[in-house]
Amino acid sequence: MKINIAVNAATGRMGQQIINEATSSQGVELVAAFCRSGHPFFGKTVRGTGSEHDIQYTNEIQAGVSSSQVVIDFSLPSVSLSLLETVVKSSTPILIGTTGFNQQQKETIEKASQQIPIMLESNTSIGANMMMKLLAVAAKSIGQDAHIEIIEYHHKNKIDAPSGTAIKLGNIICDATGSNLEDRSVYDRRENKHVRTQDEIGISVVRAGDIVGKHQVLFALDNENITIEHEALSRECFAAGAIKAAKWLTHQKNGLYTMQDYLNS
Ligand SMILES: NC(=O)c1ccc[n+]([C@@H]2O[C@H](COP(=O)([O-])OP(=O)(O)OC[C@H]3O[C@@H](n4cnc5c(N)ncnc54)[C@H](OP(=O)(O)O)[C@@H]3O)[C@@H](O)[C@H]2O)c1
Repeated sequence: MKINIAVNAATGRMGQQIINEATSSQGVELVAAFCRSGHPFFGKTVRGTGSEHDIQYTNEIQAGVSSSQVVIDFSLPSVSLSLLETVVKSSTPILIGTTGFNQQQKETIEKASQQIPIMLESNTSIGANMMMKLLAVAAKSIGQDAHIEIIEYHHKNKIDAPSGTAIKLGNIICDATGSNLEDRSVYDRRENKHVRTQDEIGISVVRAGDIVGKHQVLFALDNENITIEHEALSRECFAAGAIKAAKWLTHQKNGLYTMQDYLNS
């Protein structure tokens, strides 16, 4: 039995990857692809959908959501929140890959998860989530003794900074060492008049070219360094992980999930 999937912001870089993955993966069927009415794709047939089940790019979100078992959304925070109202009304699970939510927006998503299953995940790649597992082990074991720095790299068009994944990596380190990222993170050292403290976690951001996404965590010890790194070579890895997790999400109870829940299941 195939899982019916609707894709929001289907014309975006991630939206297009999700469409490719959804139309080529076993066990899922693309039933709706949402886009803005002014977009050149609007009304056109989605490539990869057979003539039997022609799917067109549409802005009829309510109808599309109703016909799907799960919605996948990689867009903008404001767009995701407006879609959230529709999916809650129709009790349809949603995987939100959008990043850059503020605290209030995150609380709105958390509240909505009492009514439907929601996965809110700033990095849907399986590899990056495996990196997070390895990071937790390293941080628990040597985190107290190391100087830790996080460096993230993304393409020139990425607006929010640091990446949601970089923040997540910081939180994993702090959870493993019984500390708080708010207290330890340093984003700008220009005004510092002291050497780095043992506790601080520097978070650096690179925005350049076509870099899909790279995250490094450096543990600098006396006379030796360890770097744990994940690099996405193409957006396909985010889309593949998102499709797998979206299928899984359709079987979950109401609640807020991450890729770690999927990997641990
Ligand atoms: N979770 C992960 O693993 C992961 C991986 C990569 C990216 N992301 C995140 O996913 C999000 C999208 O990234 P992207 O690279 O795909 O961005 P993008 O190429 O700029 O796509 C953004 C999409 O949002 C649509 N959009 C913008 N404003 C809209 C509005 N007012 N109403 C409806 N649709 C609107 C755009 O439509 P138009 O085409 O009409 O402009 C486009 O389809 C970002 O937050 C990014 O950080 C997450």
